[in-house]
Amino acid sequence: METENQKNEFLHDTLKGLSSKPKYLSSKYFYDERGSKIFQDIMRMPEYYLTDCELEIFKTQQQKILNDFTNGPAGFDVLELGAGDGMKTKVLLKHFVNQNANFTYSPVDISGTVISQLIKDLKNEIPHLQVEGLKGDYFKMISSFKDKVSKRKIILFLGSNIGNFSLEDSVGFLIKLRKSMNKNDLLFIGFDLKKENSLILDAYNDAGGHTAAFNLNLLYRINTELDSNFDLDNFYHEEVYDADSGKAESFLISKVDQKVTIKKLNKTFSFAQGEKIFTEMSQKFDIRMVEELAEKSGFKIVRNYLDKRQYFMNSLWRLKL
Ligand code: AVJ
Repeated sequence: METENQKNEFLHDTLKGLSSKPKYLSSKYFYDERGSKIFQDIMRMPEYYLTDCELEIFKTQQQKILNDFTNGPAGFDVLELGAGDGMKTKVLLKHFVNQNANFTYSPVDISGTVISQLIKDLKNEIPHLQVEGLKGDYFKMISSFKDKVSKRKIILFLGSNIGNFSLEDSVGFLIKLRKSMNKNDLLFIGFDLKKENSLILDAYNDAGGHTAAFNLNLLYRINTELDSNFDLDNFYHEEVYDADSGKAESFLISKVDQKVTIKKLNKTFSFAQGEKIFTEMSQKFDIRMVEELAEKSGFKIVRNYLDKRQYFMNSLWRLKL
């Protein structure tokens, strides 16, 4: 369930985004119950190559990953930021348990429902796994682990979640993460790589309309939670990709001149025909960009793991001392 604070934040951010020029809404609000379900559908659709690629990396390189994570007999603590349903992570966790690795797994998520469901699944599927779910803010949770110096901590940030930040904001986020880490800790990040434009555009504008529904769910959520009258048929989803910068961006575009009233804000917003609301950044990288990001935020790359087609990369980082 959402807290009062979260509701006020949604109200406040909606006001700010829709009052801006150009208008925007934050992709962090995609993941209510309805949106999380649509995202599960996205991960299963053929156009969304990201899931398959990361899964392939985990399946084929699990032993190398375990060797890189292992730090002598003391073992390690794995913390996953935004664990979701843990579908891909389970592959690694199963392998680690089968190899008798000494480790605990702590999924961190802002949603308590996500955490308790995941823990239930894990208890069933991997009974010998030591798991401790953490509900709350990423940085608070990581900091609370800072004193556990006996064990190396490994932070997972998978699935190209980092792509939701602009490059500039990524540096800020990573520096904050670094400050909550000890010198022997590691960071394991998923990066979606630049590739043929059409492959990226199809992944974010699928024939089945899942991505469009995902994007439009933002307006649905504003309607239900903030008491407004967006007509979802009066907006369409658009994806734009720029190969040079690697920016893939999602927009909702107004089909007509229209006005929408948000009662909880006591405010009416006008949308011109063709006016865009920016809703999501899905940054794509090349290896040089990843190296630059590590450098700027104070990390050294330990190893990069790629899938066969080189569509996706998991990168393991340590602190630059
Ligand atoms: C969960 C942020 C990795 O950007 O690829 C999928 C979300 N948006 N389809 C991504 C998403 C549209 C996804 N991430």
